[in-house]
Amino acid sequence: MTEIDASENFPVNPRYGRETKTLEELVASRLSRRTALAGLGSLGLSACAGTADGVLQPAAARGATFSFAEIERAMDETHHVAEGYRADVLIRWGDPLFSDSAAFDPYRQSAGAQRRQFGYNNDYIGYLALPRRGKNERALLCVNHEYTSAPLMFPDVAKNYPQSMTREYCEIEMAAHGGSVVEIERTNGKWTVVVGSPFNRRITADTTPMTLSGPAGGHERLRTKTDPDGVTVAGMMNNCAGGMTPWGTYLSGEENINGNFMGTLASGHREAGNHKRMGIPGGWFQWGRYFDRFDIGKEPNEPNRYGWIVEIDPLDPQAKPVKRTALGRFKHEGCETVLAPDGRLVIYMGDDQRFEYVYKFVTKGRYDPRSRAANRNLLDEGTLYVARFDASGEVTWLPLIHGQGPLTSENGFLSQADVVIEARRASDLLGATPMDRPEDVEPDQKSGRVWLMCTNNDRRSPEQVDAANPRAANKFGHIIEIREPNGDFAATRSRWEILIRCGDPSDPATGAAWNPATSKDGWFGSPDNGAVDPAGRLWVATDGNDDTGSADGLWAITTDGPERGTGRAFFRCPVGAELCGPRFSNSGESLFVAVQHPGDGPQQGQTTFENPSTRWPDFAEKMPPRPSVIVITKIGGGPVGS
Ligand code: FEO
Ligand code: CA
Ligand code: CA
Ligand code: CA
Repeated sequence: MTEIDASENFPVNPRYGRETKTLEELVASRLSRRTALAGLGSLGLSACAGTADGVLQPAAARGATFSFAEIERAMDETHHVAEGYRADVLIRWGDPLFSDSAAFDPYRQSAGAQRRQFGYNNDYIGYLALPRRGKNERALLCVNHEYTSAPLMFPDVAKNYPQSMTREYCEIEMAAHGGSVVEIERTNGKWTVVVGSPFNRRITADTTPMTLSGPAGGHERLRTKTDPDGVTVAGMMNNCAGGMTPWGTYLSGEENINGNFMGTLASGHREAGNHKRMGIPGGWFQWGRYFDRFDIGKEPNEPNRYGWIVEIDPLDPQAKPVKRTALGRFKHEGCETVLAPDGRLVIYMGDDQRFEYVYKFVTKGRYDPRSRAANRNLLDEGTLYVARFDASGEVTWLPLIHGQGPLTSENGFLSQADVVIEARRASDLLGATPMDRPEDVEPDQKSGRVWLMCTNNDRRSPEQVDAANPRAANKFGHIIEIREPNGDFAATRSRWEILIRCGDPSDPATGAAWNPATSKDGWFGSPDNGAVDPAGRLWVATDGNDDTGSADGLWAITTDGPERGTGRAFFRCPVGAELCGPRFSNSGESLFVAVQHPGDGPQQGQTTFENPSTRWPDFAEKMPPRPSVIVITKIGGGPVGS
């Protein structure tokens, strides 16, 4: 999600504004910054040099370079892709998923219709290959629908917003949140949606019962009037980025859940500190006017049932999704998975808010590649860690385990349930490093490296600068590379360095640092989602590059060799949109991207259904802009980016 909420999204980390550093710490941070800067041009060589620091041999043999011709920096009403590629609209908000779905009519939209149509603001895209049908490739796409923009979605709402939000509009919003599972098929080179596929599914914020499992499942802090056992919740919402497990389930991260709640807690309520730490109630949505559970004065525990990672089985549309509480509760961005050498699954997660943390979860049990059923509850047990980035270049992964260190009853943690419900406060006490809005965290199974996108943080003061967040008022964000020792993703000590300080490298005031080989179009600001392609190459999508005067889009990043730290512009969004969900097919020949909130901007929140900044992708009179998934392929065939 972009900055629609950011102006209201004040940091809630109590360490913000209070953190002070010793002189030694400041000097160490500055030294590290200088070393990182001076080394940027040559780091590629040292990073490739061997295993002295425990890094696996990276991708030299895996094709770490790109040969496409870049697109230019610009902003206009439509999308653009590098020459030699096609970028086709695959599915749009409101498109039918089922044979009985109503045709999309934005002037007569209803909650019932929306529940059978593709949702709004597509974000994460998961890809699960299915067996071919004849010669045709088939796959399931697992797509998150992060949030709704009512003034752009509904006619006549903007003028008197939010008072204009009726109960019916709120129900449509709930139906447009959540996720979609969609079968797609490739016939004669062209992907299309299989309407009516038995796999197709809509998951919404209010009509998809889900189980709460793991340490907080059934805990009294998750119990409500409608669910006295604290084990079943009505849906999921604010689903931002995500991941896929090796056994083919779809993991969906609930992010800005605070915005969906309104109301006031009774004075002295036990959840007061917890809700404050999550920014609850945000009051951005009007649902609490009509539905008691979104009013914390009436249902104070309801927010504790959101902010989790949800596991969904796309192969079984009847399967109840499960919120895996062992993975912690915060504003989840992605949850990308990778296997440790011993077969345990490791999941990397960002908590996207200013001054929040980076986490990883390591399962207790091992992935069983022979039995899908054996992995069913693998995510219910394991260790959740939070990262401390030291100026020495080491990452220490601090375990969030009840009874260890400060996570005891003296500090209000009576069990592991309290630790996961209040993962942010537990991490505060452990001394985790407050980051510049950590979004996607993208591991590469083959090289043992992990790329962390810190999108930006305009509220970091000069006193709060540290080695891993080296710029005050960080408008453009940065990308950190973590190296797990000898590819052991379960390690509790790793190495890190800054790969790129984003922004315009020709303007010294930005403090940007790219490989000098980066072209005038190859730099960007506000990295958000990432993907590693089958050749081990990193691709980064942006949310906020429009602040630099050019639309958001997708860049290929060279991470090895003399051009390490170079960006190359590949795809550009229509005006107002951010780009989410880059996801490659297993062959690397198809690339799926999610264009989110087209027409909402350049100044977000200023455009309306009646006056959007673009009517992409239909460009039909009176048709609003429609968030859509695009599929990109190379004309004539071959891997994308080759
Ligand atoms: Fe939903 Fe952090 O972007
Ligand atoms: Ca995001
Ligand atoms: Ca974002
Ligand atoms: Ca990703």
